[in-house]
Amino acid sequence: MYKIPANTLFMGGNLVFVPECHSTNTLALQLCQQPSTPEGTVVITNNQTAGRGQRGNSWEAQPGMNLTLSVILKPVFLDLKDQFYLNMIISLGIHDYLVTKKISNSHIKWPNDVMVGRKKLCGILIENQIQGSRFTNSVAGVGININQQNFTNDTATSLSIVTGTEYILQDELEQLLQKIEARYLQLRQNAHAKIKSNYLNALYWKGETHQFASHGENFSGVIQGIDDAGRLNVQRSDTHEVKSFDLKEISYLQ
Ligand code: BTN
Repeated sequence: MYKIPANTLFMGGNLVFVPECHSTNTLALQLCQQPSTPEGTVVITNNQTAGRGQRGNSWEAQPGMNLTLSVILKPVFLDLKDQFYLNMIISLGIHDYLVTKKISNSHIKWPNDVMVGRKKLCGILIENQIQGSRFTNSVAGVGININQQNFTNDTATSLSIVTGTEYILQDELEQLLQKIEARYLQLRQNAHAKIKSNYLNALYWKGETHQFASHGENFSGVIQGIDDAGRLNVQRSDTHEVKSFDLKEISYLQ
């Protein structure tokens, strides 16, 4: 059970708690079909049984240990070409939240995984609904590992593992929503340059030489940033050529 946060303007003002569901994103997308669903509606569950991730992956979370939620936004003010700003503000909101926890080694792994050190603490799945040339709804699904201690995947971590503290999920939800709301308001105020510069400052592996794979080839390269469409710009170490990659075109190796 969760309460409506007291510290936000509208984020979580309508809180839909379901003890169990397949996917909060799926539920939120259904709620978007009802015109009465207000912006800032949060769908949250204690037990997500078929959580969906990026690239068709699944998202696993131990029941009652983490935050699995979806936020309904209505970014009607945003040009379609600026879609990637939604990825930037949601990941930055979570990054901001981790900074308040005094976690200094948190980064955003393009496009929007939130990492602590080399491990993933939070995954984000954004699903947009568009009518004509405008966004009508955007569902930002956030899975953030809070109290879980063990993971089948050794590339995952939780806030509790990182800090050694156990957290009250309601308190963390409120702090998290406040940070996401602040970043969304920044976007609404058109603070594009600031958002992009904050995102680039937080970008995982930026400016470092690492191994990547693309189209069956492994190569060494350096992340330079992102292009206007939000694609990842990587400079190859061998040819020095800078190429832009879509989500399905590149994977990080080491
Ligand atoms: C990823 O890293 O691949 C994205 C994972 C997103 C998981 C969250 S949990 C809440 C929301 N509901 C879903 O089905 N997925 C997102």
